[in-house]
Amino acid sequence: MKHSSEAPHSVYGVEKWGKGLIEVTEGGEIGLRNPLAPEAPAISLPGILRDLDQRGIRAPMILRISSYLENEIAHINESFAAAIARADYKGCYRGVFPIKVNQQAQVIDRIVEFGQKYDYGLEAGSKPELVIALAHRLAKEALIVCNGVKDAEFIQLAILSRKIGFNTVIVLESPKEADTVIEVYNELGIEPLLGVRVKLTNQISGKWEESSGDRSAFGMNTDQLVAVVDKLRDAGLIQCLKLQHSHLGSQVPDVNDVRRAVGEACRYYTELTREGVPLTHLDLGGGMGVDYTGEKKATENSINYTVEEYCANVVETVAYAMDEAEVEHPTLVTESGRAVVATSSMLVFNVLESTLYDAPNGPEVEPDDHHMVADLAAVHGYLSHERLQECWNDANFYRNELRALFRRGYVDLRQMARAERIYLSLMARIKALVASEHVETDVDDQLEKLADIYHCNFSLFQSLPDVWAIDQLHPIVPLQMLDQTPDRRAVLSDITCDSDGKIDRFILADGVSPSLPVHTLPEDDDYYMGVFFVGAYQETLGDLHNLFGDTNVVTIDIKPDGGFDLLHEQEGDTISEVMAYVEFDPSDCVAAFRKMVDEAISTGTLKAKDRKTLMSAYRDSINGYTYYE
Ligand SMILES: Cc1ncc(COP(=O)(O)O)c(C=O)c1O
Repeated sequence: MKHSSEAPHSVYGVEKWGKGLIEVTEGGEIGLRNPLAPEAPAISLPGILRDLDQRGIRAPMILRISSYLENEIAHINESFAAAIARADYKGCYRGVFPIKVNQQAQVIDRIVEFGQKYDYGLEAGSKPELVIALAHRLAKEALIVCNGVKDAEFIQLAILSRKIGFNTVIVLESPKEADTVIEVYNELGIEPLLGVRVKLTNQISGKWEESSGDRSAFGMNTDQLVAVVDKLRDAGLIQCLKLQHSHLGSQVPDVNDVRRAVGEACRYYTELTREGVPLTHLDLGGGMGVDYTGEKKATENSINYTVEEYCANVVETVAYAMDEAEVEHPTLVTESGRAVVATSSMLVFNVLESTLYDAPNGPEVEPDDHHMVADLAAVHGYLSHERLQECWNDANFYRNELRALFRRGYVDLRQMARAERIYLSLMARIKALVASEHVETDVDDQLEKLADIYHCNFSLFQSLPDVWAIDQLHPIVPLQMLDQTPDRRAVLSDITCDSDGKIDRFILADGVSPSLPVHTLPEDDDYYMGVFFVGAYQETLGDLHNLFGDTNVVTIDIKPDGGFDLLHEQEGDTISEVMAYVEFDPSDCVAAFRKMVDEAISTGTLKAKDRKTLMSAYRDSINGYTYYE
């Protein structure tokens, strides 16, 4: 597909998905804009990488932009405030950030800092996350919402934290959890702040459809809910039940699903209120989506609403339901994770080399060539736009026949190599014809199978696990040469030894494509790729496949003058660190290696003077980065 009258980079659709934060500079590089200083020029991302490289910080790396995070927190909080004012809503908004979405200290610390003025709190889905939350000085009115399965220790810590001023809400997930809370209360004599998690029956469309509705793993059905209310009343704790929680789902694509689910949550809230439960907070969980593709549609990787529309829909739906039931407007709580952090991080890696499925020219036919090699080469003679499909068919027929003959021993290695080279040269001409003219045959689609493989310095499993596990799409684009028409198409392969470690679905201006337009790799310069909106879930879900560890992580801020400040650097895992994760003791390994070196010297297979080189090579590797250096 050509975009001949447009800029060479228009194929990537950066304007569509870049959210005004990411754009292409006049110099043909990806530029980053500071949303908090809209007048400031975009700063070149390759320029940032060059600067970091001089400081000894290299790709692959995760680059976090502090102002993007600050901007999203402000955006959500201010959008709720505006919707509340517009609807004359009587309650307020108190958001919490779900720690599981990005547990990195640098991220949580900044979220707490930027959230102070909005009384923004934290959501903890486990004991470790509660421990992290309690190490942060939150604003006085901010909440800590505890979800997930809780044992007595978790509950005890949550209750005790109220003594030092935390508004820690224990959300009861089951009647059994209510029993544990009552037991801990009886021991401590301190009243807890409680919530109940209600399972909504409305199903949410999108990737997480299965985990919403009746079959969702968390929350209580009406029968369990009533049982919990009765238990609390009997235990004299009903006055502590202040919050009703339901998680709407994740990456909800359609805003009408949000309305429906919020409407249902309100029915529970008003019914519980009618029962005399003194609820004050309605927590609607996460789910606000990110428009990864920029399509603005209710599809798996996009959403059909803006942050402002989401907030307005929530506020209006709750106001309407409460007014109708004559119930006081509750404090609104949401647990948006993805929408808060996804945009603020990007993964940057360099391309190491390419495997091409075409060749600029093939060898001339020689008299000794097998007749099918000559037939294959003869296709060059009638290759034209009109006979494209025929040439494609013939080239593949002859190549496949020759491969069969090779397997049976009728064609030797050198003949086969000549045939492959001729075939690749035909493919190069076919690709050029398809690129230059409109083609109505299926050759265009077939050519996708001949896309180059660009071997890249990252691990899909460590850095983009959702791309592998749930076909998540992220915008991916070369960071440089964007003033030049991309002359090749490629899929991206990572450096794990796993054939699943590849990316072969890309967001382009006109839809999702199995290959990415790229440039011929420059001979004397790095060629970088950027994967955008990776701040949610990716860092924590990533694993150590092939023992590729955490990448370097750099947090920067974009200065109004167009430069940047390096706020924090976290070096990626060393080999010794990843060895320790899998319970190898690096010093034991050094000792074992040294023993074998010394034995080799004793037996005379190694010279004593080579001992130092061998030991340094081993030690340097152990202390080095797990990625290609
Ligand atoms: C209880 C709860 N709250 C909040 C979230 C965050 O959801 P999202 O990142 O889609 O906003 C999740 C994630 O699934 C969740 O389970």
